[in-house]
Amino acid sequence: YLIGIDIGTSATKTVLFDEKCHVVTSASQEYPLYQPQNGWAEQEPLDWYNAVLVTIRKVVKDSGVPAEDIKGIGLSGQMHGLVMLDKDNAVIRPSIIWCDQRTGKECEEITERVGRERLIEITANPALTGFTASKILWVRNHEAENYRRCRHILLPKDYIRFRMTGEYATEVSDASGMQLLDVPHRCWSDEILEKLDIDKALLPKVYESPEVTGTISKEFSEKTGLSVDTVVVGGAGDNAAAAVGTGIVFEGRAFTTIGTSGVVFAHTSEPHIDPKGRVHTFCCAVPGCWHVMGVTQAAGLSLRWFRDNLAESYKDKAVRLGVDSYDLINEDVAKVPIGSRRLIYLPYLMGERTPHLNPNCRGVFFGLSAIHTKADMLRAVMEGVSYSLLDCFDILREMKINVKEMMACGGGGKSRIWRQMLADMYGCEVKTIKAQEGPALGVAILAGVGAGIFPDVQTACKEFIEQDTWCQPDAAAHAYYEKGHALYQKLYRQLKDCYE
Ligand code: XUL
Repeated sequence: YLIGIDIGTSATKTVLFDEKCHVVTSASQEYPLYQPQNGWAEQEPLDWYNAVLVTIRKVVKDSGVPAEDIKGIGLSGQMHGLVMLDKDNAVIRPSIIWCDQRTGKECEEITERVGRERLIEITANPALTGFTASKILWVRNHEAENYRRCRHILLPKDYIRFRMTGEYATEVSDASGMQLLDVPHRCWSDEILEKLDIDKALLPKVYESPEVTGTISKEFSEKTGLSVDTVVVGGAGDNAAAAVGTGIVFEGRAFTTIGTSGVVFAHTSEPHIDPKGRVHTFCCAVPGCWHVMGVTQAAGLSLRWFRDNLAESYKDKAVRLGVDSYDLINEDVAKVPIGSRRLIYLPYLMGERTPHLNPNCRGVFFGLSAIHTKADMLRAVMEGVSYSLLDCFDILREMKINVKEMMACGGGGKSRIWRQMLADMYGCEVKTIKAQEGPALGVAILAGVGAGIFPDVQTACKEFIEQDTWCQPDAAAHAYYEKGHALYQKLYRQLKDCYE
């Protein structure tokens, strides 16, 4: 048996798989996201840790599987978040997470210290507010005492690894998002660390994703019932993990995921870098390979925000009927015509990465009229997020990244209507896979490789990932959305100067 754990932004999900990668049991636990100021986003590492404890205990207990039969654990999770530990390994401050936008000034500082071209050459990306390096500098610039006390810097899933195994370790895919890694060479960059004046001793050791980074500590074993012989592999950032979990481990394959953020991700066997820096180039979980991805900051987040603030009745109704509120939303959205009766939504609730790299832009509904209903607005939200994902895909096409196959995954990818929207906008088939476990399955596969059960990541994916349904693009819808997309893009150009 293998366990995959995904420490997401809205919840942690722990899944126990058998050695054919079938789900045995799974459990998840939600936690809050704190927004102390407009554009800031923080979470408590102890909330993640508690969710991991609760969900592991639950899957172990519910499955009845003997602990010694669980051979390996893979960790996945939200990328980029900054966790700082003091000399006693206590968490110094809440984690500043991936969608936090406070670090515009620090990004300028990074670009100035390193030089834009050199930065892109080494880290494969321009300085971005989402990435960890700017968050480290922010703490140094604004909370000098916290910085002075810091002895260890970890990413979210690597903090959990530390609590599980006692090791300070990370792996190449997640480390790529720190902006301290030499991405083409897959190791910490001494040059970047020196120019940013960050002590390398603060950083964890870097592994390849399927490598073993340690075993379960006695303390963690006592807390969860897991065996001290179970290995914990490197794992992967959530997107690189989802790639493994959907079989996107070969050139020509790509996926779109709609979770809290949205990502269009393509596997590549070489590091392809966008000179304009609009998409990210990171190491992927297959040793020796990379990926390119565009990111929409507020994808599922947009829909959740709308539901929680403006359409709460869906939640009440879902509880009454014992169904998922998003299924009810999908039903209503299906009745709204394509184009949401000429209503357009720009999904920039948390600024935007691809294609604008603008932390200051914010969301917009354009074209509201008295005829519009809640369902029209919900469809507009889904279409606006999809337009943003189309922006990502268009850049991959412009970079001549070979994409022959597009899969859909993440919470939003489960919605047939959202997948059809993507197929119509992209003008290509959008497929799904049978087991929708995404990142958790991906890191369980990595754990299987590390534990010596599977020979390598690609062979395991070929054997265990089965494709399911697909959506064909509709020509008329594609033509409509082409016009809609042009207007969507024009709105941002027109509004750009209005954002501070
Ligand atoms: C990727 C990114 C997000 C988070 C969300 O660069 O910031 O996809 O990993 O979970």
